[in-house]
Amino acid sequence: METTPIILDCDPGHDDAMAILLSVFNPKIELLGITTVSGNGAIEKVTQNALRICALAKTKVPVAKGAGVSILGQAEASVEIHGETALDGAPLPNPTFELEKINGVELMAKLLSESNRKVTIVATGPLTNVAILLKAYPELKKKISHIVFMGGSAGRGNRTPYAEFNIWMDPEAADIVVNSGLPVTMCGLDVTHQALVTKEIFEKLEKQNTEVSKIVIGLLKFFAQTYLDVFEMPDPPLHDPVAVALLIDPTVVKTQFVNVEIELDGKYTRGATVVDIFDRNGGKPNVHVALELDFDKFWNMMLSAVDEAGK
Ligand code: BDR
Ligand code: CA
Repeated sequence: METTPIILDCDPGHDDAMAILLSVFNPKIELLGITTVSGNGAIEKVTQNALRICALAKTKVPVAKGAGVSILGQAEASVEIHGETALDGAPLPNPTFELEKINGVELMAKLLSESNRKVTIVATGPLTNVAILLKAYPELKKKISHIVFMGGSAGRGNRTPYAEFNIWMDPEAADIVVNSGLPVTMCGLDVTHQALVTKEIFEKLEKQNTEVSKIVIGLLKFFAQTYLDVFEMPDPPLHDPVAVALLIDPTVVKTQFVNVEIELDGKYTRGATVVDIFDRNGGKPNVHVALELDFDKFWNMMLSAVDEAGK
């Protein structure tokens, strides 16, 4: 079977944790390594969480700690959605191996240099590490086949009225990524707000009845409660794994290739993704924007991954 080699750059985070499980347990993905970035929690916390999820998944891919602040040096982690530990809701196993001694960007560079195939970068947190990689190692761009990021929105935001959290955390980094000239797919709120953890999905997870599914249910129940409290959404959106799912089966989303620019100023709109669906600004198409999700395909993949993880 042909596999897609990926590096997962993330800030776990409940939905990032699910993206790790999908990457480890889907046979079409070859997870080369995990790098972390501050976002859902401070860098130390999200890095510990990445190691704990690896322990849960019984995998030992290299993990390296990445950027703790944005390109402009800002550090603001959010506890609103993911809780104090950034992954509240269920007891997780302790890490079973050590972090890499090199930082996240160096690990990305190492994995790209060593790979004899082009590698896809999947980013499910702020884009700081990816932007630094592109600027610090321009010669490695030829080793990147594709960058898929969870972030942005063609409509409203979730951190501010028009900015989605990951982009809002580091707009300068997002600007570097969307204008990198590489193939880029944006998996934003338009599509991730269709990846809802519904009551029926919880029931299917309950039927699995494994140690892993019980932990996943605990995590997702916490996540569901904060989404209800903060956004009044009855079912929470499982954003990050959608960015992995579209690599497993591109038909899981429908995309449009359009011009996307990042609002770097804007009194109220800094961090907004300006998605020019009707080509009103005349900019060159640079991003494949995912707009529609095949709910059943997505959840079949995600539920199978959790099931496999429990075996
Ligand atoms: C994004 O922000 C984080 O809270 C999630 O992990 C996801 O990557 C959604 O806006
Ligand atoms: Ca995330």
